[in-house]
Amino acid sequence: MKFETFERTVPFRPGWKREYYDGKVHLRPSWVTIDYSLKLTQRPERPTHGLRMCEATDRAQLIDAFIDSFCYAPEYACDSMKSYRKKAAEYVDGYFGSVRGERSPCSTVLEIEGQIVAAALVKLRPTLPPLLDCLFVRPACFRRGYATIVAARAVNRLVAHGQPILRSGAMLANEASIAWHRSFGFLERPEYFLAQSRYFNAIHERGRLEKCNLATAEQLAEWDAKIASLKDEFERLSLAEDRSNKPLTAEVLNHAEKAK
Ligand SMILES: CC(C)(COP(=O)(O)OP(=O)(O)OC[C@H]1O[C@@H](n2cnc3c(N)ncnc32)[C@H](O)[C@@H]1OP(=O)(O)O)[C@@H](O)C(=O)NCCC(=O)NCCS
Repeated sequence: MKFETFERTVPFRPGWKREYYDGKVHLRPSWVTIDYSLKLTQRPERPTHGLRMCEATDRAQLIDAFIDSFCYAPEYACDSMKSYRKKAAEYVDGYFGSVRGERSPCSTVLEIEGQIVAAALVKLRPTLPPLLDCLFVRPACFRRGYATIVAARAVNRLVAHGQPILRSGAMLANEASIAWHRSFGFLERPEYFLAQSRYFNAIHERGRLEKCNLATAEQLAEWDAKIASLKDEFERLSLAEDRSNKPLTAEVLNHAEKAK
């Protein structure tokens, strides 16, 4: 592909690294993430055959469903198939083990014709609210409401156990996950690196659209308004970050490195 074609056809997307070299497009997800929080209240549930608690005997089925579900997601886009399979097994073993907390009995799966097609896996943490550790649906079943069904059942179980809040997370590059979290009612927790990433992405995309003559004056004005609002949020969080006077811990430095 010629550089001019790359510029015209490949947009800057939040959470994605966009590069061109050796005559080729190189797209990779960055590790900028969004933290979510949900105030828990009872959810309406529609009667669904095959909805049940996740059991320890589901290990092999969950690995299979995980591999299928994440095949179009950005999380493992840079992995070989071998490493992807290994990470899927590691994730499921960690879920059944004590990684990020203890497995919650509220974790829910949806099984159809002997196959797990959707899962909402929850972890309990001693000093923090429970975490929606992983949510996935097999691609053949996307947009049938299955993620909402398993998550609603998990939420109702958490409510019955007296839990007031559920945390979750998504990669900024994972548009489906972000859309789902919004639709389910999760709220984003403001975060400096996230605001920075969105702000600079919008600046670059506006620049590309103008340079390639791909936007009308009206559309560019809309981008300017969006950039102004993202800038406000970025500056507000920059100030908060400065004021907090936090030393740059290894975790922050690592995050900054990954966000590049
Ligand atoms: C994200 C994911 C779990 C959503 O599952 P799903 O069963 O398709 O979601 P639902 O049918 O419950 O969607 C409910 C709403 O979320 C939003 N939504 C879900 N997927 C979306 C997408 N790809 N694009 C835009 N909106 C989407 C929509 O508002 C949708 O309502 P609608 O279909 O009436 O428009 C699924 O795409 C998935 O498993 N992806 C791969 C694994 C993954 O990324 N997991 C999340 C990791 S944090």
